[in-house]
Amino acid sequence: MFSCVRWLQPFLALLSSTLLTWGYNCPSSCLCPDHHTVDCTGQGLTRLPDSIPLDVRRLLLSNNWIPRIPSDFLVLYSDLVYLDLRNNTLTKLEPGTLSTSSRLVYLDLGSNNLTEIPSGTFGESRSLIKLRLGNNPYLNMVSKDAFVGLTSLRELELESNALSGLDVEVLSQLPSLRVIRLEGNPWVCNCNFAKLFLWLLENRHKLPTVCGGSPVKDPKGQ
Ligand SMILES: *[C@@H]1O[C@H](CO)[C@@H](O)[C@H](O)[C@H]1NC(C)=O
Ligand SMILES: *[C@@H]1O[C@H](CO)[C@@H](O)[C@H](O)[C@H]1NC(C)=O
Repeated sequence: MFSCVRWLQPFLALLSSTLLTWGYNCPSSCLCPDHHTVDCTGQGLTRLPDSIPLDVRRLLLSNNWIPRIPSDFLVLYSDLVYLDLRNNTLTKLEPGTLSTSSRLVYLDLGSNNLTEIPSGTFGESRSLIKLRLGNNPYLNMVSKDAFVGLTSLRELELESNALSGLDVEVLSQLPSLRVIRLEGNPWVCNCNFAKLFLWLLENRHKLPTVCGGSPVKDPKGQ
């Protein structure tokens, strides 16, 4: 009997730790308030935490020092709906990183150090509704096809970047766009800007603030 317990104990310990990591796994220094949320806000992280549960839906990583997202990240976390990477030190999005995020609805990459948004960055993100890319002080290039495929996108933030121009097709390709923020960029008034300006005039209901005025209310009250 005694020896049997001694034999069983390590076995049970192993079994329970395996069950724990398999069932409910919260990365150290993060909080997991519910089964689908991992909150690592402001933890001084310099890279993405290990051992994030694969079925995570809300991943909060703002106010850290994360410099990159591995290109297979969203292949792994394919249930992600809400990803907040605001106020990190991202400088570059590897091609294809966000092209498999078919469930992602909310993506915040604001207040990072991105310099460009290349073609096809968001490939298959057909569920994406809100995309925040503002306050990237060196972001001076948004490729013409950067947002191709974002058929559900309603809100796009590009404010306080370093954009001197923006191809009007970047915006006219977004069929669901309702709100666009472009203020605080060093726009240069050339022919391309004239096209953008005309588009903005025709779509001015999509601008939340017009030259410091009050936010334009959507007539349907949304
Ligand atoms: C950005 O993150 C840093 C590091 O956590 C923090 O000190 C700073 O207050 C944050 N900035 C904002 C605007 O939240
Ligand atoms: C942001 O990018 C600029 C230019 O690319 C660089 O000089 C600066 O050190 C970067 N800052 C951080 C916090 O990575």
